[in-house]
Amino acid sequence: MYRKSRILLASFVGASTIGLGCLCIAAPPKKKTHPAPDAGRVSYYHQIRPILIAKCLPCHSAANHAGLLDVTSYAALLKGGAHGPAFVKGKPAKSLLVGYLHGKPMLMPKGGPPLPKEQIALIEKWIAQGAVDDTPKPHSKASPKESHR
Ligand code: HEC
Repeated sequence: MYRKSRILLASFVGASTIGLGCLCIAAPPKKKTHPAPDAGRVSYYHQIRPILIAKCLPCHSAANHAGLLDVTSYAALLKGGAHGPAFVKGKPAKSLLVGYLHGKPMLMPKGGPPLPKEQIALIEKWIAQGAVDDTPKPHSKASPKESHR
């Protein structure tokens, strides 16, 4: 005879609470140092030209060059207007453009309001840094060795 042995499955539910230590490791924010070597260098193409185009274009484009000045390109600025080149490299104080922005001999944009101080300062800084032309060449042969200096 087979004795049926009843196996009682006693399931012990061990309610073991494992206190998982909250490892709240706050990763310190990595300080990103700007890799740009040209930090602080004002870009004609990316910073100056947009200002001039936004503020001076109605009167100083190739189509309508008041004072014979066209501000839409570096070459045109360098050529300048009735009174000569709009800027003197490295010398903001001697640059016509800067004088006019300060109202000497007359205020530009004509009829005001004057440009915000920061924009005038930026233009002065660009000229002080040598008024570098960093306009991308339209037909450049993708030269990898593009220098911004
Ligand atoms: C509403 C029209 C108008 C706007 C906008 C304007 N200008 Fe002029 N600008 C003139 C006129 C007109 C003259 C010629 C004034 C004169 O010599 O009698 C002039 C002359 C100049 C000259 C002198 C050029 C020369 O060689 O005689 C400079 C520099 C100049 N503007 C810069 C600017 C700049 C920079 C801006 C934008 C921030 C600007 N202007 C916006 C109308 C304008």
